[in-house]
Amino acid sequence: GNLTQDELKRVAAHRAVEFVEPGMTLGLGTGSTAGHALDRLGDLLRAGALPGVAGVPTSLKTEAHAARVGIPLLPLEDAASASGAGGIRLSIDGADEVDPDLNLVKGRGGSLLREKMVEGAGDRFVVIVDESKLVPRLGCTGAVPVEVIPFGAPHTLGLIRKVFDGVLGFHARLRTVPAPKGDGLDAPFLTDNGNYIVEMFFEDGIRGDLRDISDRLLRITGVVEHGMFLGMATTVIVANKDGTVTVIN
Ligand code: A5P
Repeated sequence: GNLTQDELKRVAAHRAVEFVEPGMTLGLGTGSTAGHALDRLGDLLRAGALPGVAGVPTSLKTEAHAARVGIPLLPLEDAASASGAGGIRLSIDGADEVDPDLNLVKGRGGSLLREKMVEGAGDRFVVIVDESKLVPRLGCTGAVPVEVIPFGAPHTLGLIRKVFDGVLGFHARLRTVPAPKGDGLDAPFLTDNGNYIVEMFFEDGIRGDLRDISDRLLRITGVVEHGMFLGMATTVIVANKDGTVTVIN
């Protein structure tokens, strides 16, 4: 029979881990697909197959998961080339969407800032997805997240909305989580960095120059980073419904 979506995620993850060689420092992604890669790396490390491998985690959740399966961890500043060390050779992470140019939407799990810092610092960035993540245009299947400073967040939300003035069907809101105290009031979602997330929605995906849109968002004081990863992926590994794998470079 057909593989489940979780089994497909595992197939893609295991294929990516084949690129890992002894001694490499890795960027360790966040999410359910990246989680399969962590488990696989842990198994191989414990079997003695990957001596000298260490990783830089892209979230607190990944930090805990990697520690649990026995992957040695490094802070970004000790791993990245700027310090004169060997550098992050390879990052492996999932994505929420992949477009035909290998641009990504990431961060629906909320970890986009650390992901972009770590994956942007490495030599090679391998993205692992099941077929359902392939889209004709970014923003087709759900929110595009933007990390914002809590101070004045509703004001920053207003400035983000202005970037998309006149875009039919666009809307944006602060991401919330159900009331922690059961008082019925939703609370803002908090990132690992103590920031908030604005979710941008597009009726049929983002049309226009993604670089320009990215620049305009990043120029807003109060915006820290957004979840469009443009020109960053060097390889995308897609697990297809029938269990076959497509590697796009
Ligand atoms: C985390 O913030 C995200 O960028 C994830 O990488 C993305 O949501 C993919 O997650 P799944 O592998 O769980 O689909």
